[in-house]
Amino acid sequence: MKTVTNVFDLRSTLGAWREKGQRIAFVPTMGALHAGHLALVDHARKSAGKVVVSIFVNPTQFGPGEDFERYPRDLEADAEKLRDAGVDLLFAPPVDVIYPPGFATTVHVAGVSEGMEGARRPGHFDGVATVVARLLCLVLPDVAVFGQKDAQQCAVVMRLVADLGLPVEVRVAPTVREADGLALSSRNAYLTAAERTAAPALFRALLVAQLVHELGEKKPEKVLKAFRLALETEPLISLDSADLVDAATMRPVEKIDRSVLLAAAVKLGRTRLIDNVVFGG
Ligand code: PAJ
Repeated sequence: MKTVTNVFDLRSTLGAWREKGQRIAFVPTMGALHAGHLALVDHARKSAGKVVVSIFVNPTQFGPGEDFERYPRDLEADAEKLRDAGVDLLFAPPVDVIYPPGFATTVHVAGVSEGMEGARRPGHFDGVATVVARLLCLVLPDVAVFGQKDAQQCAVVMRLVADLGLPVEVRVAPTVREADGLALSSRNAYLTAAERTAAPALFRALLVAQLVHELGEKKPEKVLKAFRLALETEPLISLDSADLVDAATMRPVEKIDRSVLLAAAVKLGRTRLIDNVVFGG
């Protein structure tokens, strides 16, 4: 595996592969890699001859008071995991390579980015859309792989790729979970032992809500109530937000008569975790 940190080296490596007719699959990440990221890498390996992964903790998608400074960073350990996973190229740029002096563009994806996490984390999806657009333009992959765990992020990226006419196929890979159901996340590292034991209650409550729908409930407020009640059984978890929206548009639905996304964010101590399930339709 080769590691590059600047645009010149990135482009010359990619250019040589393209000249040989290689297809390129790309997985953007912020590092602190776990099996969820590596599942995306696996998906990428099956989609193209060459796999590129980026590690860049993107400052513009963190709000004031969020965890940008303390976000876990361990480039050496990450590089080893990627080498073992058969990645061909790691792009690990410093901030001024992604945002050089004078950088003045912000990508705002109206609609899908404005509700849910977008409303609660102002500027977050502008930061995501801007860095993803920049990374896709730098790498110009044939395929880019994202995780269902960040469902709204996937919708934002798909909209931006369609609207800008970027010649890349966006693929969404399923959420990878621990044996007890907790979705893998770099932020799980922040949990105390007691919080870690409590954390799977989030996914269990999402499954309870899904089951309530599958048993015949079509009213979003009833399904959301079932979710809240199930979550309340775990005193260490406090609910931050729960949204039931159309899985494609991310807009609230009045009736569950199509594929919907139930997405929730919870707090365990200082740590904020998100998860979601898709059902209906
Ligand atoms: P990061 O949180 O590092 O996640 C990188 C990719 O891994 C995202 O597509 C995310 O959805 C996926 N992922 C995370 N946990 C997962 C899990 N348990 N199962 C499956 N996939 C999972 O998301 C970002 O970084 C950034 O916003 C980024 C897109 C890199 C832009 O800065």
